[in-house]
Amino acid sequence: MAQNSSFKSPGRLDPLQGGASGKSPASYDGGKLRDESLKGIDFERRNFLGKAVGGVGAVVAAGVLYPVVKYIIPPAEKEVKEKDEIVVGKASEVPPDSGKIFQFNKDKVIVVNNGGTLSAVSAVCTHLGCLVQWKADEDLIFCACHSARYESNGKIISGPQPLPLEPYAVRVDGDDLVISKA
Ligand code: FES
Repeated sequence: MAQNSSFKSPGRLDPLQGGASGKSPASYDGGKLRDESLKGIDFERRNFLGKAVGGVGAVVAAGVLYPVVKYIIPPAEKEVKEKDEIVVGKASEVPPDSGKIFQFNKDKVIVVNNGGTLSAVSAVCTHLGCLVQWKADEDLIFCACHSARYESNGKIISGPQPLPLEPYAVRVDGDDLVISKA
């Protein structure tokens, strides 16, 4: 029985080369088309992923940089209008032979009650800026940093300080202790 060993199905033989005729549009041309369209999808996906990663990176960078920039660049200070006169507390807070420091606008002011007489001067030593205190046993304002001594009205007694303490006006209004610019 003669066998035709050379018989081959053209469709099965080499589909990539178009079978026997080499013109199988379903496998060859269709494959080409599929490749082309896959390339398009791949490119779009990469493009989308690139944009997504870029967007996320920008958000993360902004999240990191914002506090840094905010720390480096301080916010614009609100212009606070200074007052000429302020009720800083109660008169009872400064009993006879004592002194107490109050905040007056941006300044610190020491109010001294020297035997019933009130006076107020800057509480910032004119030497290097330490806060002063009232020394009742010596009747003077003292700076412990370098032993500057001032009278209760701010005049220099002794020490390294170049200037007297800036004077303020102080009065009692009812129970209130009121400081104003001298
Ligand atoms: S800072 Fe007051 S004496 Fe030096």
